Amino acid sequence: MKRDFLRVTDLDRAELHSLINRALEMKGGAGAGSCPIIGKSVGLLFEKSSTRTRVSFEVGIYQLGGQPVTMNVKDIQLGRGETVADTAKTLSRFLSAIAIRTHEHARIEEFASFASIPVINALTDDHHPCQALADLLTIVEKKGSAKGIKTAYIGDGNNVANSLIEAAALADMQLVLACPEGYGPDQNVLKECSGKLKGSITVTNDPAEAIKDADVIYTDVWVSMGQEEEAKERLKAFKGYEVNSNLLSKAAKDAIVMHCLPAYRGKEISAEVLDGPQSVVFDQAENRLHAQKALLEFLLT
Ligand code: CP
Ligand code: NVA
Repeated sequence: MKRDFLRVTDLDRAELHSLINRALEMKGGAGAGSCPIIGKSVGLLFEKSSTRTRVSFEVGIYQLGGQPVTMNVKDIQLGRGETVADTAKTLSRFLSAIAIRTHEHARIEEFASFASIPVINALTDDHHPCQALADLLTIVEKKGSAKGIKTAYIGDGNNVANSLIEAAALADMQLVLACPEGYGPDQNVLKECSGKLKGSITVTNDPAEAIKDADVIYTDVWVSMGQEEEAKERLKAFKGYEVNSNLLSKAAKDAIVMHCLPAYRGKEISAEVLDGPQSVVFDQAENRLHAQKALLEFLLT
């Protein structure tokens, strides 16, 4: 049976735990030079822009001995109206797995239902599970463990937030999200995760309350890809949610600051915080590589 990775909860607690440990081992150089996916081609299909996801997957696949095949939707027949089903069935004849970045989450679910190879979510409107793997890896690396760690997510209850909620539920984190009214995370994700909880997940409208004594501060853009037309009203709604020095001063003294990137300085995060000593955003970006290598090894060997 092929395994897909469309959202974090496609893994169980034990699998997530061992995947993060494996990523840490790989980052430390374990298995360097071994080629667990030699001879395998892995597709990367993008219907939205990407820097980190694209490059970390391409490099990671190469480092595991495989061949990345990157496709932009505009360059393949899918962009001219070929169906998702026909694309999924065709690509399954050539590739051993495929990572897809697309719009509606239902679209990647449809692709996965017709594909006979593992499908990895490289970001949809509702989930960004590969990002959450790297986020968890970063927290474990910096804080020793995710268990009991208080993470404050300040900003939009978007794809990154939804996947962080699922990761928090499986890793026993204490997660507090501060989102403006009407911009909270997916209620279904919250409901589903409440059944898996050993830590806690709460949502507030007060960034100062969320950040109090937090060990990890996380934010993401206020205008995600595909929401450009809502930019003006969003910028208004998110006023007061910038992660800046004043807000950060309420967190634990040794708190780390995370952002999945790309970032907009002076909007969701101030330049002095993003570029400051507590920021770990480039370690977090690098961890995309290690986490996804562990994921590919898990799905393909
Ligand atoms: N964080 C992230 O997914 O970055 P890209 O959009 O550059 O891939
Ligand atoms: N929430 C952002 C994440 C980008 C990596 C977006 O979907 O555009």
